Amino acid sequence: MGYLVLSCSLNPESKSRLLAESINQCLGELSNEVNFLDLTQEKVPFCDGGDAYSDPTSVKLVEAVSEADGIVLCAPIYNFDVNAAAKNLIELTGRNWTDKVVGFACAAGGQGSYMSMMSVANSLMLDFRCHIVPRFVYALGSAFQGESITDPDILDRTKELAHEMFRVTEALKANS
Ligand SMILES: Cc1cc2nc3c(=O)[nH]c(=O)nc-3n(C[C@H](O)[C@H](O)[C@H](O)COP(=O)(O)O)c2cc1C
Repeated sequence: MGYLVLSCSLNPESKSRLLAESINQCLGELSNEVNFLDLTQEKVPFCDGGDAYSDPTSVKLVEAVSEADGIVLCAPIYNFDVNAAAKNLIELTGRNWTDKVVGFACAAGGQGSYMSMMSVANSLMLDFRCHIVPRFVYALGSAFQGESITDPDILDRTKELAHEMFRVTEALKANS
């Protein structure tokens, strides 16, 4: 049991994937049990509430989620929410999120959408009693240049999120 970093953007030039990679690296310095899953590398079926659950990729996603104590969901903001691929992943893996510690890192086009991950945070909290880490990364395009995160504040926030994920997850593990 350890950590899972989920990169949910399907864009090959994704900025949230750069956040995910940075968090993956920071968590890797704290724990040797960190799994990185990039949805561009998987053929994920659409959740249909039926046959999709037995698809081999769904089974793989369920395993990855259920094996983790702490999960960092890295996603783009689309239409004032996380993207549909992130939502679909949650639909496919459902109750396997129960009691997980969850953090968020989002890439967005504008400052006005900064609370957009709250609806998925609320649903994870209310549906599956997830412990939401009250520190998240929200980065605009200006924080990146090419394949790099160039904004030092965003780099600091990715480190802080990784440390907070580790602190909360390990504390809960020690007391369960
Ligand atoms: C379909 C679509 C909807 C979007 N909706 C929003 C939005 O509601 N708020 C926002 O700030 N940015 C929005 N954006 C901009 C993306 O969040 C931005 O491009 C971000 O970098 C995407 O993450 P990614 O680079 O990891 O794929 C939207 C982009 C697309 C393609």
